[in-house]
Amino acid sequence: MRYNSLSSMLGAIPRIHSITLGGLLLLSSLLSPCGGDVGDFSPCLNYFYQAWPPKGIQGTPICQRYENQYHFATLYSRERRTPWFSAYIYTQPQGKRPKEVWKYEPQLAKSQADGNMVPFPIPPEKVDQNVVESQAVQEDYINSTYTRGHLNPSQHHTDPDDRHATFTLTNVVPQRAGSNDGPWASLENRVSKNLQAYCLGEAYVVTGVIPYEKDRWLKDQGRVAIPEYLWSAYCCRNYSHNLPKSLTDTFPSYAAIGRNDPNSTEEIVPVNPHRKKAVLGYDVRPMPLPTLETYLMQRYGTPFSVFYKQCSGS
Ligand SMILES: *[C@@H]1O[C@H](CO)[C@@H](O)[C@H](O)[C@H]1NC(C)=O
Ligand SMILES: *[C@@H]1O[C@H](CO)[C@@H](O)[C@H](O)[C@H]1NC(C)=O
Ligand SMILES: *[C@@H]1O[C@H](CO)[C@@H](O)[C@H](O)[C@H]1NC(C)=O
Repeated sequence: MRYNSLSSMLGAIPRIHSITLGGLLLLSSLLSPCGGDVGDFSPCLNYFYQAWPPKGIQGTPICQRYENQYHFATLYSRERRTPWFSAYIYTQPQGKRPKEVWKYEPQLAKSQADGNMVPFPIPPEKVDQNVVESQAVQEDYINSTYTRGHLNPSQHHTDPDDRHATFTLTNVVPQRAGSNDGPWASLENRVSKNLQAYCLGEAYVVTGVIPYEKDRWLKDQGRVAIPEYLWSAYCCRNYSHNLPKSLTDTFPSYAAIGRNDPNSTEEIVPVNPHRKKAVLGYDVRPMPLPTLETYLMQRYGTPFSVFYKQCSGS
């Protein structure tokens, strides 16, 4: 009950913002050479706890816009044609997973574009070559041994447009089916259940990648980088004080790292050898937020902060 009224409130707030901001952006895109929604998180800072995006990686900020409204935020790597992370506010899922309509972001190719994501053309019609240069396209994933793994999953949202908006390839990384349909899906479900049951206010989620020490690429084409691990963390400051004992470590923050390669060493995430073959080697290890930040710092080679003051309150 409480959660429902909260999520409808959450739905309403970004809506008001995006109407006014949409008008402003239209104006600013006429005045400035740089179009809306790329290069700056300021129109979508509401998707970050304390309006504070993670610190530690450089990339291209994308305020993810669909049907003229913002839905979440992504830090994108143009060189890797994959996101570093996506950040969103969790809302309780309703109904079944929407039909997949994959979209791309014209503004990565053409700065004059208005910043709304658009569906890929239906073959044989082809997407513009400038788009192919600037981001991942459907052909990158077709015939590869990887699935399109959402960082921001459609099943963490109430609003149908919030769900549809997750189907942009800028929110997607090459993810093994064993992870995507296995332990990583279980993590997403577990997070969803915990937040529904015990988070009373906003739950800010950030989900990202840990690259290989030496990059690997889809189909060895040097276009779309494959992550060695996925990570995810949430921050929910306002939570129920009736937490079961088993969940006292999961509030106000929680984090996890998941394997995307069964051949990775076991220093970061150990392997449970008793799993079914289809998901063997794709384990997810829950951990406290500071532990995640330590692993991110080691691989990225720079101090890494996911949430303002480690979600400790303002
Ligand atoms: C996928 O493989 C099929 C069969 O080998 C081939 O005809 C098709 O062109 C390939 N498509 C892409 C996008 O690589
Ligand atoms: C926590 O959430 C509940 C339910 O939405 C609300 O009544 C309460 O005021 C919130 N507390 C704080 C400190 O924000
Ligand atoms: C793991 O290593 C084996 C043996 O080198 C190789 O055949 C397999 O393709 C590798 N798996 C992945 C997911 O890279």
